[in-house]
Amino acid sequence: MATSSIKAIPIMAIPSFNVCHNLELLKEQGKSLDPKRQEGEREEEGLSYEFQEMLESLPKERGWRTRHLYLFQGFWCQSKEIQAIMSFQKHFKPLQNDVVIATIPKSGTTWLKALTYTLLNRHRFDPVSSNTDHPLLTSNPHDLVPFFEYKLRLNGDVPDLFGLASPRTFATHVPFGSLKDSIEKPGVKVVYLCRNPFDTFISSWHYTNSIKSESVSPVSLDEGFDMYCRGLIGFGPFWEHMLAYWKESLKRPDKVLFLRYEDLKQDIESNLKKLASFLAVPFTEEEERKGIVKAIVELCSFESLKKLEVNKAGQSIKNFENRHLFRKGEVSDWINYLSPPQAERLSALVDDKLGGTGLTFRYC
Ligand code: A3P
Repeated sequence: MATSSIKAIPIMAIPSFNVCHNLELLKEQGKSLDPKRQEGEREEEGLSYEFQEMLESLPKERGWRTRHLYLFQGFWCQSKEIQAIMSFQKHFKPLQNDVVIATIPKSGTTWLKALTYTLLNRHRFDPVSSNTDHPLLTSNPHDLVPFFEYKLRLNGDVPDLFGLASPRTFATHVPFGSLKDSIEKPGVKVVYLCRNPFDTFISSWHYTNSIKSESVSPVSLDEGFDMYCRGLIGFGPFWEHMLAYWKESLKRPDKVLFLRYEDLKQDIESNLKKLASFLAVPFTEEEERKGIVKAIVELCSFESLKKLEVNKAGQSIKNFENRHLFRKGEVSDWINYLSPPQAERLSALVDDKLGGTGLTFRYC
């Protein structure tokens, strides 16, 4: 499995903003804080004083599943994500042929990871359904294609990624502006998956409330919707996230491929072929005859992944059960949740922010 050779290099490699190991000192300091503040401190647990000071200087708002979201490099994210992103930006060394999957959360990242991994590794792991050794049958896609800002950089670790099988495949939620310096090397490719903002919001709302810790109160639909429309969502505002990747895909179509969740749902085979050509591993006629395209589609389908034991009972991202990653997998579920005035508000916002850019969506 690709992740098995990831080794963690000790934190010493990051001189600034390193993890504070002096827990006694932290506890001492905590004694003078009020209980509410201490609850918030837990999400900042393990962050150095310099880092916490830097956090304090950032604009912050109420978070969805943590107490706060901070405005960092122009987008909203959690404190631990900021630490991981800074580490990734500082230490990541791209290699030719690296592939980076980029999304704003709940756009179908898990699906795209499964498809890309299976596609790129089809000569090592035959995707035909009779093959029971395929890694996707026993590992969640997030274990096969790691995020820069989560597992790889947990607690500020600097992993050794050179041993990974080529092409190395990573994922990220960071906006293009914060990723661009890390992908400039010729041959590095980015695949962006975009989902209509209506369904992305509903999916985010369900997911957040399913995985949030008990100490954080649930976000109601109305409250979450208002936050979303004000841009307050992890890695948002959503319109800036989508627009930056969209523009880059128009400017450099050989560098950034822009896919839509709704298109994948409508015609997965031709989108999978498009992805294969973009990644310079097109399907041969013989492969098509042998049914490889169909086998990949089937292996990565919502129904197949959802019923696997690893996705019913496993945990790939710390404290997040895999089962929450597979909810409905449909286009237009928003119709069951948003009131007509809410739909109008979001529609007007999308028109205002994205109208005239050429970026359009299908909502049903
Ligand atoms: P819903 O909550 O609308 O069901 P992400 O992977 O970025 O977290 O996105 C999660 C969304 O993608 C969820 O949407 C989930 O059900 C859907 N999804 C996960 N796997 C999928 C697959 N193989 N095919 C289609 N949709 C999938």
